[in-house]
Amino acid sequence: MTGVQAVARSGVSIDGLRVMRGGRSVLEVTALHVPAGAQGAVVGPSGCGKTTLLAVLAGLLVPEAGRVRVADTDLAEVAARGNAALDRFRARTVGLVPQQPMLFGVLDVLDNLLAARHFAGLPPERDAALALLDRLGLAGLERRRPRELSRGQQQRVALARALVNRPALILADEPTANLDDANAAQALDVLSARAAEAGATLLVATHDARVCARFETVLALPARAAAGVPTRAP
Ligand SMILES: Nc1ncnc2c1ncn2[C@@H]1O[C@H](COP(=O)(O)OP(=O)(O)OP(=O)(O)O)[C@@H](O)[C@H]1O
Ligand SMILES: [Mg+2]
Repeated sequence: MTGVQAVARSGVSIDGLRVMRGGRSVLEVTALHVPAGAQGAVVGPSGCGKTTLLAVLAGLLVPEAGRVRVADTDLAEVAARGNAALDRFRARTVGLVPQQPMLFGVLDVLDNLLAARHFAGLPPERDAALALLDRLGLAGLERRRPRELSRGQQQRVALARALVNRPALILADEPTANLDDANAAQALDVLSARAAEAGATLLVATHDARVCARFETVLALPARAAAGVPTRAP
């Protein structure tokens, strides 16, 4: 299956997940099934495992137990083919906006986006990358290095970089934490619109009431993370 075909079949499926960090269990999810193309918020108190869940879905953290499927692909099967296979799967299928922007400091803004396409084995599509920056209010900043940007601008570049490969699964970790109301709304508009255009699944981990209010589907992780219980927001 190619990454492009995977876009139409995206979704998340978790059964019997247990994640250990520092020698203790930090996240347990009995069952979580997110339909392809769904958009939802992942909420819960600080330390409940939101970032951990996104890291598992991105294939960055190997769980102690459980089955995790992303875009109809079993992550354990990809991992068994080695780190290169996992890196390629992640680059093509998952767009991760980390809690800290983590941009390439030596590259300018545009090259940060084009590097993401390169790592996924995709052609550069420079004009599409510039159009995406424009949509996020970053036009004219494409030749700046990350250190020459504000925190909020860096966060929007990280968002653009996560979207530039048109991933089947978009994972955003507190993407509005450094943004004012106008830029938060714009960033969420772009996230939702790009996900809808591509039929991608979108999960946004957040504490932010502005973010939660936008999503009909809310996945609430309990404080002690005994189970991930999908709920519907009122
Ligand atoms: N590298 C690590 N080593 C050991 N424990 C860790 C590590 N990273 C996170 N943890 C622990 O795992 C648990 C879940 O952390 P996680 O970062 O997923 O929470 P979170 O819900 O994203 O919190 P926040 O809302 O503050 O971002 C916490 O108890 C945390 O202390
Ligand atoms: Mg977190």
